Amino acid sequence: MAGRVALITGAGRGIGLSAAKLFLQNNYRVFVSDLNLDKARQELQSTPNDLIGFLETDVTKEDQVEAMTQAALKQFGQVDAAICNAGILSPIVPWLDSPHEDIDKMLSVNVKGAWLTAKHAVAAMRASPSAGKGCSLTFVASVASLYGQPGMSAYCASKWAVRGLSLTAAAEFAHYGIRSNCIQPGATATEMFASFPPELQTAVKASVPLGRAADPLEIAQVMLFLAGEQSSFMNGSTVAVHGGQTPT
Ligand SMILES: NC(=O)c1ccc[n+]([C@@H]2O[C@H](COP(=O)([O-])OP(=O)(O)OC[C@H]3O[C@@H](n4cnc5c(N)ncnc54)[C@H](O)[C@@H]3O)[C@@H](O)[C@H]2O)c1
Repeated sequence: MAGRVALITGAGRGIGLSAAKLFLQNNYRVFVSDLNLDKARQELQSTPNDLIGFLETDVTKEDQVEAMTQAALKQFGQVDAAICNAGILSPIVPWLDSPHEDIDKMLSVNVKGAWLTAKHAVAAMRASPSAGKGCSLTFVASVASLYGQPGMSAYCASKWAVRGLSLTAAAEFAHYGIRSNCIQPGATATEMFASFPPELQTAVKASVPLGRAADPLEIAQVMLFLAGEQSSFMNGSTVAVHGGQTPT
């Protein structure tokens, strides 16, 4: 895969940062974006400048997302893979007690952010020497897009919508040579999962037949597979990476 370029949103920590490290180890050049890149800049500081780029980006702002994709294109001359990973979790609150701001925020970051990232990543892929051929979009939904989850109505709605974005991208961009697939991570040991109330973390882990949360690397490995030629006939697939997790 030497020479391929991956753009990863929400790569300041967690699954996205783990993916950035794994892609670098697998001969990708990586463009790392997040609202906050302090940790990523520190942990990736030994990476040569010609292999990595950084840009603070809010995925809900179209001008910033366009600047991010164009910066990746300018620095590396091509964009081959985009991982639409940035996301937030809503407070775990019964639907009837949830303020409407919860769903507005969730749809803005998780849905509009992924929509904008894909829109401008595809433009950058088409402006690459390959004109899009062999390129790949990966959307990051959740096990919350497999079933309903009490207390997580807004998050659940946003992640079901992400599945829809991925399926539509698969149908709409395939003729450029751009594939689109979606990952549904289950419980994964990041700061997002650590923000669950302790009793919910215990209940979720108990619902995983493998008996634990994923290491972020275990999600990143599937992102790497979907980004590259090894998955060349996968388009419009939704891949659960959840250890067999069932509803809690
Ligand atoms: N951790 C889990 O258990 C789990 C399970 C299923 C799905 N996911 C999904 O995986 C993805 C990564 O989650 P994580 O666990 O690494 O979470 P995390 O909270 O550790 O990291 C998410 C990153 O997204 C960034 N981000 C948030 N809003 C942003 C914005 N507006 N613009 C740019 N960046 C923004 C944050 O700054 C953060 O660095 C998310 O889409 C999440 O919904 C996580």
